[in-house]
This record gives sequence, structure tokens and C-alpha cells, in this order.
Amino acid sequence: MTPSRPRYAYLVAIALAAVVGGLGHWSGSVPWTRPAAAAEPDAFSPYVDAKGNISLPTDYKTTFVHLGTFAVAGKTKVGAPVDSLHGVYARPEDVTAFQRDGKFPDGAVIVKDVLKVKSDALTTGTVTWATDVDVWFVMIKDSKGRFKDNDLWGDGWGWALYQGKDPKKQVATDYKTDCRACHVPAKADDWLYLRGYPVLKEKPKGK
Ligand code: HEC
Repeated sequence: MTPSRPRYAYLVAIALAAVVGGLGHWSGSVPWTRPAAAAEPDAFSPYVDAKGNISLPTDYKTTFVHLGTFAVAGKTKVGAPVDSLHGVYARPEDVTAFQRDGKFPDGAVIVKDVLKVKSDALTTGTVTWATDVDVWFVMIKDSKGRFKDNDLWGDGWGWALYQGKDPKKQVATDYKTDCRACHVPAKADDWLYLRGYPVLKEKPKGK
């Protein structure tokens, strides 16, 4: 990651917030902006069906804000200082809400893509860059305790996992065994590793 990446994401956040604000009564209710939501106007989330099945927001790269990226070593191969890059994204309206309220609102969507990498000596140093998506993780904020009988919902979130080769197929079976233990260190921050997302500490723009 170059230092300019977070700044760029931040500008995108402002631009998107401006667009959403500028559209006024259009935002969120126009069918072609969020097709899944249009089918069920009262639905809790365009990414969640009536049974709590979660789908991957496939347009997150162009419509979400980049919150931050984690470079993960540890299982390092010789000559490869970073084993994977984890990019985290949220919708502009959820970012603005967090900046205002200090927490994500009901229905907030967070996507993390775990990217495979290559590393090499380039003219800037030893450089690691992303290649393909290995897996996607998704969390959807549920402050009302919906889907009590669904093993992918609990502790205030819906939890989901998709393999890079099949983005349509959710593969986690129970968040308590598949996700929860690794997120316990972040429990005080509503299960999120907030330290990686400096944009959330900014003041909301234009509010
Ligand atoms: C091996 C431990 C581990 C497991 C298992 C795990 N996570 Fe995480 N998760 C982390 C860590 C650590 C971070 C932040 C740093 C990173 O990505 O390396 C993170 C970050 C995330 C993020 C970005 C938002 C945040 O929490 O900061 C999402 C979304 C996420 N995880 C969802 C899931 C879901 C859904 C599951 C289960 C299907 C899951 N995770 C399983 C360790 C884990």
C-alpha cells in the first residue's frame, strides 16, 4: 500500500457522500441504484433475504469506501514478507453514520477481501502486491437480534464467507465456530478491528 491509497479512498468517500446528499429524495429508493432492495422495499438489507441468508455485495469495489488494508505476514515464505492483503470496505452512508455516532448503524455492511499476493524487489524496495481474491468475509450489523434461529447471526452481526472461485456461494456454517473466537480480541469495539480504519475517526463531511 502506498501512503496515498487511504487519502484516495477518503476522497471517494467525500465524493460519494456528495452524490448521495445531492440526489436527496432519490437516494436509496430508486430501483436501479439497489436492485435487490427494490424487490422488497421494507427489507432490512439488500444483501439479506427473509431467512437471513447473506449475499456478497459484488459491487463493493466501485460503490463502497475503502476503510483500510491489513498486510498479513506470519506464515511467511522466504522472500515473501507479506502472505496476504486484507482490504476492508463499507458503504459511504455507513461510514458517515459511524463518523457521526461512533458506531455502525443497523444494516451496515462490511466487506473484507483476502487477496493473494506476489512479492519482488522493485525500484522502490521489496514490494508486495495483490493478485486474485482468495476469500471474502462479510459482516452485516443487526442491532435488533433478527434471525435467532440462523447460526450465521449473533453478537449483533450477520457473518458470512465466500470463496474467490464462487462469490455466489456462502460457505460459513456457524459464526460461533467459524468466526467468533478470532474476533474476541475486538469485542470491546463491537467485534471490529477498528485500529485499521483511520477514516472512521474523521469528522463527517458536509453535516
Ligand atoms: C483466524 C482468525 C479469524 C477468523 C477465523 C475470522 N476472522 Fe475476521 N478478522 C480477523 C482479524 C485479525 C481481522 C483484522 C485484521 C486482518 O484482517 O488480518 C478480521 C477482520 C474482519 C473483517 C473486517 C472488519 C473487522 O472486523 O475489522 C470482517 C468483515 C471479518 N473479519 C469477518 C469475518 C467473518 C464473517 C468470519 C467468519 C466467517 C471471520 N471474520 C473469521 C480474524 C479472523
